[in-house]
Amino acid sequence: PWADWLPENANFPVEGKSVKSTLFSVSDCQAIVKKAIVESMKKKYHHRKWFEEDGPCYTIEISLLKDVATLTIDTSGTGLHKRGYRKLSTSAPLKETLAAAIINLSFWNPERVLLDPFCGSGTIPIEAALIGLNAAPGLHREFAAESWPNISKQLWTDARQEAEDLMCRHIKLQIRGTDINPKVMSIARYHAKLAGVNDFISFQQQPLSELRTKKKYGCLICNPPYGERLDNTEEVELLYREMGQVFQPLDTWSFYVLTSHPNFERIFGKRADRRRKLYNGRIECHYYQFYGPRPPKKKMNL
Ligand SMILES: C[S@@+](CC[C@H](N)C(=O)[O-])C[C@H]1O[C@@H](n2cnc3c(N)ncnc32)[C@H](O)[C@@H]1O
Repeated sequence: PWADWLPENANFPVEGKSVKSTLFSVSDCQAIVKKAIVESMKKKYHHRKWFEEDGPCYTIEISLLKDVATLTIDTSGTGLHKRGYRKLSTSAPLKETLAAAIINLSFWNPERVLLDPFCGSGTIPIEAALIGLNAAPGLHREFAAESWPNISKQLWTDARQEAEDLMCRHIKLQIRGTDINPKVMSIARYHAKLAGVNDFISFQQQPLSELRTKKKYGCLICNPPYGERLDNTEEVELLYREMGQVFQPLDTWSFYVLTSHPNFERIFGKRADRRRKLYNGRIECHYYQFYGPRPPKKKMNL
C-alpha cells in the first residue's frame, strides 16, 4: 500500500512518460495515478478527504514503455550527474558524469600526470581527483530520500562515514588544469574547494600556446571549444592546428580529446588510435584517443 511509504503529509507530485504505448496521454496517466494513490492513502488515513502535501517530497513517476507501466519513487531528487560541487556557471561545462566517463575511458591512473589545458570550470581535473581519492561521487550532495521519515538519519550518516573511510587521502596526485580565461580559473578553484579536492589540483591561467612540461607519460584529457557557432569556426580550427603543434614535443604522452568538430583529426594532424561516439547533452561528439607509450614499470625493492 502507498501509505506504507507515503506519510500523511507527503508531497507527491506525479511525473510521467509514455513510449510506444496505447495510453499516450501522459497528463491523463499522471492524473489517474495521482487519484489512485489518494484513494489508497484514504484507506489508511480514514478521516482524510484532502491531503495537505506540505511534508517531504516523494516524486512518483509513471513510465509506460510498450504498454508496460512502471511506477517508481525518486529517492535522488536532483539528477545524479550533479555531485553538488558545481555552484557557479561557466559556458559549455561538461556534465560531471561525462567528465568522469572520459577519464575512465582513458589509460590515466593516479600514478600518472593528468593535464587539462582547456579546463574551464574544472570538471575534468575535479572528477579525476575524486576518482584518484576513491571518493564516492555523491558524497557532497543531498538526496531527496534524506528528508523521508521512513529512512533513519543514522543510515545516511553511516553510509557517508563508510564512504569517508574508503577515501585514500594520503595519495599524491599530479593533476593540473589550465585555461586562457582568468575568470573561469577562480570558478574552477572554488568548485575544487567545494568538492574537497583543492589540495590535489593545481590550476593556472595559461593559454595553450604556453603549455610546456618536463613530465613524462602523462595523460592530457580535454574538451576544447567545438566551434558550434559559424562565427567562431575559423578560430577553433586555428586552435586545433595549434594543439597539433603544442602536443607534438610531448612524445611520451597520451592525448584524449572530446569534440563535435567533424574534421578534428585532419586539422590536428594525426589519426586517433581509437575514436568513440559520445553525446555531450544533445551534441554528437567523438572522443579521440591518441595512445602514447606505456609508462615503464616501477622496479620493486625486494
Ligand atoms: C568547452 S570549454 C571547457 C569546459 C570544461 N571542460 C568544463 O567542464 O567547464 C573550453 C575552454 O577552452 C578555453 N580556451 C579557449 N581557447 C583557449 C586557448 N587558446 N588556451 C587555453 N584555453 C582556451 C575556454 O576559455 C573554455 O573555458
